Amino acid sequence: FSAGGSPEALSIFTIVLLHLLLTSNFLFYSSSFTKLPHLAGTEQNLLLAKQIQGQWKEFGLDSAELVHYDVLLSYPNEKQPNYISVIDDQGNEIFNTSLFEPPPHGYENVTDILPPYNAFSAQGVPEADLVYVNYGRTEDFFKLEREMGINCTGRIVIARYGKIFRGNKVKNAILAGARGIILYSDPADYCAPGVDAYPDGWNLPGGGAQRGNVLNLNGAGDPLTPGYPAKEYTFRYEVDEGVGIPKIPVHPIGYHDAEVLLRAMGGSAAPDSSWKGSLNVPYNIGPGFAGNSSTRKVRMHVHTDNKITRIYNIIGTLRGAVEPDRYIILGGHRDAWVFGGIDPTTGAAVLQEIVRSFGKMKMEGWRPKRTIIFASWDAEEFGLLGSTEWAEENARVLQERAVAYINSDSSIEGNYTLRVDCTPLLYKLVYNLTKEILSPDEGYENKSLYESWLEKDPANVVFSICRINKLGSGSDFEAYFQRLGIASGRVRYTKNRVTDKFSNYPVYHTVYETFELVEKFYDPTFKKHLTIAQLRGKLVYELADSQVIPFDCRDYGEALKEYSNRIYKLAKKHEEQLKLYKVSFGDHVSSLREISVSISRSPVTVRIMNDQLMFIERAFIDPLGLPGRKFYRHVIFAPSSHNKYAGESFPGIYDALFDIESKADQREAWEEVKRQISIAAFTVQAAAGTLKEVA
Ligand SMILES: *[C@@H]1O[C@H](CO)[C@@H](O)[C@H](O)[C@H]1NC(C)=O
Ligand SMILES: *[C@@H]1O[C@H](CO)[C@@H](O)[C@H](O)[C@H]1NC(C)=O
Ligand SMILES: *[C@@H]1O[C@H](CO)[C@@H](O)[C@H](O)[C@H]1NC(C)=O
Ligand SMILES: *[C@@H]1O[C@H](CO)[C@@H](O)[C@H](O)[C@H]1NC(C)=O
Ligand SMILES: *[C@@H]1O[C@H](CO)[C@@H](O)[C@H](O)[C@H]1NC(C)=O
Ligand SMILES: *[C@@H]1O[C@H](CO)[C@@H](O)[C@H](O)[C@H]1NC(C)=O
Ligand SMILES: *[C@@H]1O[C@H](CO)[C@@H](O)[C@H](O)[C@H]1NC(C)=O
Ligand SMILES: [Zn+2]
Repeated sequence: FSAGGSPEALSIFTIVLLHLLLTSNFLFYSSSFTKLPHLAGTEQNLLLAKQIQGQWKEFGLDSAELVHYDVLLSYPNEKQPNYISVIDDQGNEIFNTSLFEPPPHGYENVTDILPPYNAFSAQGVPEADLVYVNYGRTEDFFKLEREMGINCTGRIVIARYGKIFRGNKVKNAILAGARGIILYSDPADYCAPGVDAYPDGWNLPGGGAQRGNVLNLNGAGDPLTPGYPAKEYTFRYEVDEGVGIPKIPVHPIGYHDAEVLLRAMGGSAAPDSSWKGSLNVPYNIGPGFAGNSSTRKVRMHVHTDNKITRIYNIIGTLRGAVEPDRYIILGGHRDAWVFGGIDPTTGAAVLQEIVRSFGKMKMEGWRPKRTIIFASWDAEEFGLLGSTEWAEENARVLQERAVAYINSDSSIEGNYTLRVDCTPLLYKLVYNLTKEILSPDEGYENKSLYESWLEKDPANVVFSICRINKLGSGSDFEAYFQRLGIASGRVRYTKNRVTDKFSNYPVYHTVYETFELVEKFYDPTFKKHLTIAQLRGKLVYELADSQVIPFDCRDYGEALKEYSNRIYKLAKKHEEQLKLYKVSFGDHVSSLREISVSISRSPVTVRIMNDQLMFIERAFIDPLGLPGRKFYRHVIFAPSSHNKYAGESFPGIYDALFDIESKADQREAWEEVKRQISIAAFTVQAAAGTLKEVA
């Protein structure tokens, strides 16, 4: 059965793999990939694709193809710049926000740096009074509308970046009736205390502003071809019918400009300190400006154009020797807002070095048991488009054959410790592999990655276990996990979650994400790149080459119990309604106990068992999808409806319970809770059924 040989031979190859990965190569690939801006849909990003495709062929992959799609992208209008003004009562623009970020030293002559903008913003020139809405979260709008009686209808709102995905802020602003939304980076969220602004340190300078798309795609991929690959022959909706495109103008600014707008604001005072950032302004809510400025208004100018544009994924394969029809996918994006110093290049360089190492082993006569697919995705920054279109084009094959998907976006968002988000099926494998990798951290010489990770980020001090997070969204694993039900995971180096209060990393999605930023401040020795490459590489290796797929389903059982308790506690807050509407959680909890696997080892029984393991994640897919989100089909996990970045467990029940007390028809609302409980109970029970003895 096993062409890969004995367990001893396996471990030799994993040692070989680790020795092939070189820190010097991360430096080389990072500096090469960040020389020029390479936004999706541009000539530069196609040239970079061709360069990487050529290298993948040289590395010895069996194939490396460019796969294109024609998707809706969004760019600023070259002739009419986007900006925001303060206007006096004559309509004169007496203050304008800056049109671009001051380029970093040494990059002054680089062309094709697009100014900060929010991709897929509506066009428009609205004028109105300003309302400050804190982070623009659901709870922030509840506070404004329900406690403070502030009405955003017809106003322009200004929200600080951070805490949640920017697209959710825009959606909330639209629901509140706003005519436009300004997003700004407050130093409280984008500067670490005691750190200098770039280039002297890694904080955000006052002239920097975060780019980013503001779609609410809910997993649809290309807004014009939801559910289907955006090929030449595909039916397209009109742009104004596109999925998730906001109907109001959105524009990002830095804190120097934001300070001018916020300083003048009047109206209600901030409700408490959680509404105050760290600018020297009162953080008044508005609406409008104070005192003798109260006749002034804010005018947004947004002329961003949506354009159907060709994008290119690179798909590389290393054919499996034993089970060529079983796939392990390692994918990460290549497109960047500007230079992509951290995002995505700290991930793309790791992907490149892993491909090189696997290619080297193959050229020396080795093949994995299962097929490995490597992917360099395009247009991730525009809504996970390249990865989602490829998933759509290959959905039938993937749902039959894909064992796992490992993401290779940014390897580094901080230099403190490991961060893992994955399916419970991968918990054990991640714990096992981190015990075999040396920690790159200072003060942990000769200790394992597991040890430094456990000390720095324990999930639970009592049980002494490292924290692993639920998968949400915000990167290219989304279509594979949330839509297709393929076991997925992502790993990266991160900041200290207890002491570091800033969001993302300060210069996220700005022109200051350069190679020098990474080399000077985040990973001067490239040791953290190496650690992440070792972990991603070993995950792929073990998934592709172990005789039995290294999934541990007992952890899924445990996780389901925990999620079930959590949702039950949430529902228990409405004890009277549970009784009144006869809502019962009984089936839901009891059906979690049946997951277990029997081990026996003839070639056919191994394949039978591996198929059962591969299909566990798939068994949690409901073909009908979640309410109003048909491409989020995983019944156990989904991106939170209030923050696309975060994962929510039992999302159907959670959303049915959310804010249920304010729903007009209580009977109907509780019927929906019952329906969602029943779907969850059925799905868990049906998934458990796939793991029973075959006959
Ligand atoms: C703002 O820009 C507009 C359009 O270019 C211009 O007319 C106006 O004078 C500018 N205002 C200031 C204060 O620079
Ligand atoms: C940019 O161009 C100017 C004018 O050609 C030149 O003097 C300067 O050295 C260039 N700067 C860089 C960083 O290349
Ligand atoms: C908010 O203002 C709009 C327009 O003035 C009005 O139609 C709406 O009823 C107001 N909403 C509330 C909750 O007062
Ligand atoms: C508005 O009032 C402030 C403080 O009273 C004063 O400093 C400022 O000059 C006034 N501005 C205008 C435009 O009158
Ligand atoms: C993890 O390691 C333990 C101890 O070596 C082993 O029994 C178990 O099968 C491993 N699990 C996975 C999923 O690799
Ligand atoms: C780490 O291990 C090496 C070789 O075993 C040893 O020479 C070195 O002193 C150790 N370093 C620390 C800090 O323990
Ligand atoms: C890297 O680690 C050092 C030491 O802990 C810390 O002082 C520094 O702020 C970190 N750099 C970044 C970019 O987080
Ligand atoms: Zn990214």
